Amino acid sequence: MAKQVKTIGVLTSGGDAPGMNAAIRAVVRTAIAEGLKVKGIMRGYAGLLAEEIIDMDSTSVSDTINRGGTILYTARCQEFTTPEGQKQGAEVCRKHGIDGVVVIGGDGSFRGAGKLSSLGINCIGVPGTIDLDIACTDYTIGFDTAVNTAMEAIDKIRDTSTSHERCSIIEVMGRRAGYIALWCGIGNGAEEILLPERYDGDEQAIINRIIEARKKGKKHYIIVNAEGIGHSASMARRIEAATGIETRATILGHMQRGGSPTCKDRVYASIMGARAAQLLAQGKSNRLVAYRHGEYVDIDIHEALAMQKDISEEQYQIAMKLVR
Ligand code: ADP
Ligand code: F6P
Repeated sequence: MAKQVKTIGVLTSGGDAPGMNAAIRAVVRTAIAEGLKVKGIMRGYAGLLAEEIIDMDSTSVSDTINRGGTILYTARCQEFTTPEGQKQGAEVCRKHGIDGVVVIGGDGSFRGAGKLSSLGINCIGVPGTIDLDIACTDYTIGFDTAVNTAMEAIDKIRDTSTSHERCSIIEVMGRRAGYIALWCGIGNGAEEILLPERYDGDEQAIINRIIEARKKGKKHYIIVNAEGIGHSASMARRIEAATGIETRATILGHMQRGGSPTCKDRVYASIMGARAAQLLAQGKSNRLVAYRHGEYVDIDIHEALAMQKDISEEQYQIAMKLVR
């Protein structure tokens, strides 16, 4: 029989993402509408272990839907990856009367949620990461805002790059996942797109293509490089030395994680947050809310974490045809 849930907690964990506040707001207001009490757990699992827990009501989330970051703050917590830390986390939940928790974060955060579920605390995950690297879902909260922020920045760099007839390397976020780079590469009309999942390290081939492009009269040469490949500054120096074309590197960095969320991020986050609170109200546990093939669904956490995600080969192949 499903456990009766009276009070739920909500936390954000791992890297923040624009739209997390919209998700928190939806969790809080939906839970209240379902007759549940809501507690905010500050700073992810670190705040859970430190018992940084606050009561939340409808007004706690007023004026937040348009704000980037997360009002609950976020953290990474090594201690929670240990069985002792997880046991302590479950005990803290019980002590504060928390029967279930909505965990908004990425794969790492969901592993924690899976552990907490197995210790009797009902957990539901909501995918929040700018990287779009969660296998079970076609959408993650924050990607749309981040990729648009990066795209606008690259458009600006392109203007100055063309004026100076330079080559520009722009490094976008994504240590293991190249989706931001791939989408910017397509959306910005880049000449090169370097993804951690695909780059073969053949810098000489890039140099040859830059020289060819210049011969054909191309005024700029935009290389979108993913963080996971990195070394943008040294790559720029080598390209300049080999081609004689002035080359500059720009690392966009954490600006991509901030800012007011796009409408898409706000709406998807609201629907996913609401769905998570409803699932807890129904006594469900160990599920992730996902968006798959045009529908919102929920999936067993362990099944979801066993899925693998690679860059879409179709998108990559199209991008490779459009760049040159
Ligand atoms: P993300 O959720 O964005 O993937 P991380 O991988 O940094 O970010 O994970 C966020 C937090 O989730 C970690 O700091 C840790 O507290 C918790 N976590 C990660 N992996 C595990 C695990 N295997 N077991 C329990 N908790 C984990
Ligand atoms: O997972 C989101 C992300 O922004 C990645 O793209 C990036 O590699 C990582 O987080 C950076 O983490 P930190 O904020 O710890 O530098």
